[in-house]
Amino acid sequence: TGPKPLDGKRVLVTAGGTVERIDPVRYITNDSSGKMGFAIAEAARDRGAKVTLVVGKADVSPPNGVEVVAVRSAAEMRDAVMCRLPDSDIVVKAAAVADYRPARPRAEKIKKSAEALTLELVPNPDILQEIGEWKASREDGARKPFVIGFAAETTDVEKHATDKLRRKKSDLIVANDVTAEGAGFGTDTNVVSVYGPNGLVASLPLLSKKDVAGRILDLAQDGLRASGPSS
Ligand code: PMT
Repeated sequence: TGPKPLDGKRVLVTAGGTVERIDPVRYITNDSSGKMGFAIAEAARDRGAKVTLVVGKADVSPPNGVEVVAVRSAAEMRDAVMCRLPDSDIVVKAAAVADYRPARPRAEKIKKSAEALTLELVPNPDILQEIGEWKASREDGARKPFVIGFAAETTDVEKHATDKLRRKKSDLIVANDVTAEGAGFGTDTNVVSVYGPNGLVASLPLLSKKDVAGRILDLAQDGLRASGPSS
């Protein structure tokens, strides 16, 4: 077998949903199955990359041949991601990170009562935004990964995706219109549009998550080539 396009490259992928504790038996999470991120990790592995997969809650098993780092909360995912950035060539953030967590997770199970119960939520760290800020703070010439975020949108997909790209200083944003048939959470297929700093880069039809992963990695490889050798 000949050389592969990502030989010698390190790819960091996040997948699945984060889990935010309410009490020892209850938590807040979302519908991410892990499939999109796992497909990216698998495709990167097949292209020769050394892959680290940071996984929250997932419904399927992660691929073989990649390093799996299991996390639960957004805070844990953040720590697992941030410490690996200096060694990464490509970062793909397919995980669905909870925007909020309970302000005071209880050590004991919350008892049922006749009273209404109010759960106070506080914002979580925005990992993709921290990655963008970390990159922007690196010196010229320092190794910086090519960063791809995802956006799960239900309305005004293009506007929200391009806003996220700018705010979070990502290189690309892959937007899924999660209201489209066969797109988004839990499915084996996805419908995505990819945006870069100059607007729409690719608008893909309904494809398997495996094929979407291949197209995203093609764009990441183009981005790596354009930004020169990373060392
Ligand atoms: O896992 P599957 O079932 O296959 O579903 C795939 C998916 C729909 C979860 C995936 O394709 C996807 O869209 N993932 C991102 C979902 C999401 O959290 O979107 P968002 O618009 O809330 O976040 C935008 C980006 O910021 C994402 O890259 C997210 O990882 C990141 N983020 C968000 C919040 C936060 N606190 N920290 C983050 O890093």
